[in-house]
Amino acid sequence: MECKVLIDDCVHHRCRALVVGCFEGEVFSDPLLRSLDAVLAGALEAIVDQGEFGGQANKSLLVHTLGKGEAERLFLVGLGKRREATPERFRRAAGSALQALSKAGVQRFASVLHEAGDAAPEVVRATAEGFYLGNYSFDCYKSEPLERSVCEEVTFLTRDEVTCRSAEDVIRETALVCGAVAFTRDLVTHPGNVATPAYLAERALEMSGRMGVECRVLEREEIERLGMEAFLSVAKGSRQPPRFIVLEYRGGKQDARPIVLVGKGVTFDSGGISLKPRDGMERMKDDMAGGAAVLGAIQAAAGLRLPVNIVGLVPTAENLPDGGAYKPGDVVRTMAGKTVEVVNTDAEGRMLLCDALYYAQRYRPSVLIDVATLTGACVVALGTCATGLMGNDNGLKRALRQAGETTGERLWELPLWEEYGELMKSDIADLKNAGGPTAGTITAGWFLGQFVGKYRWAHLDIAGTAWEDKGGGHLPKGATGCGVRLLVEFLKGTLK
Ligand code: BES
Ligand code: MN
Ligand code: ZN
Repeated sequence: MECKVLIDDCVHHRCRALVVGCFEGEVFSDPLLRSLDAVLAGALEAIVDQGEFGGQANKSLLVHTLGKGEAERLFLVGLGKRREATPERFRRAAGSALQALSKAGVQRFASVLHEAGDAAPEVVRATAEGFYLGNYSFDCYKSEPLERSVCEEVTFLTRDEVTCRSAEDVIRETALVCGAVAFTRDLVTHPGNVATPAYLAERALEMSGRMGVECRVLEREEIERLGMEAFLSVAKGSRQPPRFIVLEYRGGKQDARPIVLVGKGVTFDSGGISLKPRDGMERMKDDMAGGAAVLGAIQAAAGLRLPVNIVGLVPTAENLPDGGAYKPGDVVRTMAGKTVEVVNTDAEGRMLLCDALYYAQRYRPSVLIDVATLTGACVVALGTCATGLMGNDNGLKRALRQAGETTGERLWELPLWEEYGELMKSDIADLKNAGGPTAGTITAGWFLGQFVGKYRWAHLDIAGTAWEDKGGGHLPKGATGCGVRLLVEFLKGTLK
């Protein structure tokens, strides 16, 4: 899809549909709507008077103009109360407008949605994100084209040259970032029989070639030589060999310490010998969403030529139970030298990540961030509204939370008090890999924290946010690509 920017007056612009944003209770104080209503001989006013639409958030109204206006249709979309307006409202409104119009077979339309936010850059950005992200579809395994056709073109109507140029710049960047989100969503959506560790590595190599990023892929022998026994133990029960993906993007000064991003890359999580229940197990193809988000964030950072150095580490493996699988009771030695008693083979994410986090220390990172669909407990605690945040540095956590507010990928912090560590003590080894029924998200985070040394570190548990069950707005049903926009915003923030 293409987003174009044009200087034109919305009353005189010919189009299949015009998207207009309305604040709650202000539908008729808005000059733009008043001028449109005049063209329609008061039809809008009548609709509002009848109480059919009042600008409430998540409400919308499609009006056919039947030859009265230059726009064949008006699509009014509610933004809620003006004083509660956030970029996220615009993002959602744009996404749902696009989805409704494409469902109605309108593949090209114009929009003045951003005008409700005075075309401020952050509003233009959020609106364009809503359109791009809401237009995502994945049909590569369908023999027949999908019912919902996608949109081809959205035209932003602006008032003057200055707004037009600034909107063009913002939209160019947004297209690039949303392209990276789509790349991540594709990786997460591909089923486990396609998206294997080897496939992820191939896609990382392909992306790195395209973006001018360095990429190395370590295979089993090399991972063994590094001493990553915890990581490798997860791969033992699968015919799919593991991979360790290492990406290096150098946009910053030669000697600037890098930001290291680590992503969980479990391409399918059956639970292993501690087998998961059958219902819903198919969802566990998304257990590499953290790794995919790291790949997407690096693609975006390279596309934007951000002046920072970034290292991406994605340990990837499949967690299955066969005769060679690791078992409850096994003790393995991590690369860090700490021993771990495996009490639950379904707590596999931390087994891969602890070795990758330890490996990350060789880069002397300025900050270290891991992203993982790590615990079901996080879904219980925060649902699908927020990503779990833990870490050892307040400044870093604050910057991440800020990026979360800006992008709408919200974070909520959980504590890592040392008392939680008691739950992870093993009788036979230094640590055990699972703590029991309480504080599951925190004990997982605490475990990871044992492998980051003195470095500033944050852990993002995206178990609840990586997948959207209902679908709406800028998040169609399925993989959300969460983490990509968040990390890109964070990386941009570190430059200020
Ligand atoms: N990949 C899962 C976490 C998960 C569960 C993500 C549901 C998304 C939805 C992870 O590997 C896992 O199985 N964690 C266990 C940990 C437990 C055994 C300590 C869990 O959450 O049950
Ligand atoms: Mn698991
Ligand atoms: Zn898992």
